[in-house]
Amino acid sequence: MNVFGVDIGGSGIKGAPVDLERGDLAEPRHKVLTPHPATPDDVAGCVAEVVANFGWSGPVGVTFPGVVTGSTIRTAANVDKSWVGIDAGKLLSDRLGGLPVTVLNDADAAGVAEMTFGAGRGRKGTVILLTLGTGIGSALFVDGRLVPNTELGHLELKGHDAEKRASTKAKEDEDLSWEHWATKRLQRYLDHVEMLFSPELFIIGGGVSRKADKFLPLLEDLKAEIVPAELENNAGIVGAAMAAAAR
Ligand code: BGC
Repeated sequence: MNVFGVDIGGSGIKGAPVDLERGDLAEPRHKVLTPHPATPDDVAGCVAEVVANFGWSGPVGVTFPGVVTGSTIRTAANVDKSWVGIDAGKLLSDRLGGLPVTVLNDADAAGVAEMTFGAGRGRKGTVILLTLGTGIGSALFVDGRLVPNTELGHLELKGHDAEKRASTKAKEDEDLSWEHWATKRLQRYLDHVEMLFSPELFIIGGGVSRKADKFLPLLEDLKAEIVPAELENNAGIVGAAMAAAAR
């Protein structure tokens, strides 16, 4: 069965029909640039453009980079604040001519896809996927079951919002070397998350997972196993489609 997945990110809004048996895109994805400011109306217009590009009519799953309860947006750390309080499921469904829309947090979507088709396949116990990008997203699983909206990117680290110190955006903005970023920023962040949750496995997602060989070998003394995500850029789209199919 195919279901459509859309991933709303800070730089691009991308989507494709997803083959749910294979956990992969059924067709090459279509991407439009995220408008700035990323207001609800403008982003909804982009989502509609992506879906229309495939002439899709059926269920649609959509990721959002903030807390989502039901289909209502509760936080918007890196997108326009006017999203907070909006029923994104209704907004998007209206823009898509009444197609059923399921909305979930972006990291939760990526995590669900990785646990089924990627690095977390078959893993029991506590597993934490962290997406390192503009922000830090988290997905916490206990015996394969998601605890949604954990927002571990906003833990406090040395008096700062952790994602402001340990995201890849912090690395770029402060022009940090791989070594400095990995050993001083990411290491401290992971130590803190490990102290709180004692996971068996960390899965590192986000675009930087493609460069895992540059920083994972620099990390020391973690008790948890730590591996890069396997679905890379498509994890959000696949997870969004899985969430829509599950509803
Ligand atoms: C948001 C999370 C999101 C993460 C990655 C954070 O700033 O609060 O909800 O998952 O960025 O986009």
